[in-house]
Amino acid sequence: MTKRTSQEFIELEAKYGAHNYHPLPVVIDRGEGPLVWDCEGKEYYDFLSAYSAVNQGHCHPKIINALVEQTKKITLTSRAFYNSVLGDYEKYVTEYFGYDKVLPMNSGAEADETALKLARRWGVAKKGILNDEVLMICCSGNFHGRTITIITMSDDPESFADYGPLTPGFIRIPYNDSKALEEVLEKHGKKVAGFILEPIQGEAGVFVPDEGYLKTCYDICKKHNVLFIADEVQTGIARTGKLLACDHENVRPDILILGKALSGGVMPISCCLADDDIMLTIKPGEHGSTFGGNPLAGMVAIAALEVVKEEKLAEKAEYLGNIFREEIRNIKTDMIELVRGKGLLNAVVIRNKNGKTAWDVCVEMKENGVLAKPTHGNIIRFAPPLVISETQLRDAIEKIKISFKKFE
Ligand SMILES: Cc1ncc(COP(=O)(O)O)c(C=O)c1O
Repeated sequence: MTKRTSQEFIELEAKYGAHNYHPLPVVIDRGEGPLVWDCEGKEYYDFLSAYSAVNQGHCHPKIINALVEQTKKITLTSRAFYNSVLGDYEKYVTEYFGYDKVLPMNSGAEADETALKLARRWGVAKKGILNDEVLMICCSGNFHGRTITIITMSDDPESFADYGPLTPGFIRIPYNDSKALEEVLEKHGKKVAGFILEPIQGEAGVFVPDEGYLKTCYDICKKHNVLFIADEVQTGIARTGKLLACDHENVRPDILILGKALSGGVMPISCCLADDDIMLTIKPGEHGSTFGGNPLAGMVAIAALEVVKEEKLAEKAEYLGNIFREEIRNIKTDMIELVRGKGLLNAVVIRNKNGKTAWDVCVEMKENGVLAKPTHGNIIRFAPPLVISETQLRDAIEKIKISFKKFE
């Protein structure tokens, strides 16, 4: 059989796939740890980690083993029946993050939707808000996924424009502005069920809020009996140098949303965590998902979370993140405007030069063996798998430096 080329796969996608993405022209054929290889066998460092889903590294043997072993037994039962994994997983994940209950879903967007439903339900059932009057607060620059209700929260026209009528009941306030939260709650607090935010805005370009912002917002929410809902789909599970980004300020969200790295990138697994007072407001038959809580996901998620602890990935992210930012800040180029981030969730803001943009930098880095992708045109996110070694990280940084030199 003749070897199939990267170009062939790119053409197939263009012809038969919806054109809802604009990938970098690289076709990944296999991966291991922080490395991936294209169809021609060229090796790259993956500095996107599937938007932080692959924190544990590509094809982590322990996670793959959990997957393979469970596929031999049973993969899906639906929640119409009990299965012999879900209870163990629920116990494990709730104890791991310190909540009474978990509600398992699949994609990040579904978990976000679940959190919004939970908060609205709690608002009606516990806070006594009239059903048609429940309000939710969200932030400018947010990214919570792609469903209609979620894009309602977005202020990015690429996300929400021309998708018809959106969902009522949301108020958007500026991010990193606790005064704005205070003001809106002074005015509407009695009708507000929850405040949803990313503790660091990932898709917005790794926007790290001022120190104290999360804690101040949490306190304001408590004052107004409003749920503090943290979307840690991208920031959670060791990415920012702590298990959760909220841990940097010792804030415990009322509803915690997780996804992506909950499976180590092996399959879509997400969840909402909350205490009984909130979680038990949803009764049997009132919410669910055919695949949510399937036994395969349960086994995979337990393994993925064990890896995070066993391999001290949060500590690694913290340590390596400091090296990364320092080294990148030292690169002599006027194309780098700003380097920001926490742990191994970092971004470089690019200043265009002679018509060359962040996209051109990413294409050049690809040539040199580092894969990253621009977000919002001029920002490049750098988020390698947390299993990357210091030697590998320094090697990748050299390749990044060489790439910037091309534009001098
Ligand atoms: C903070 C955040 N929430 C939710 C999502 C949506 O997750 P999914 O793409 O799995 O639906 C993302 C995806 O990037 C995200 O970064």
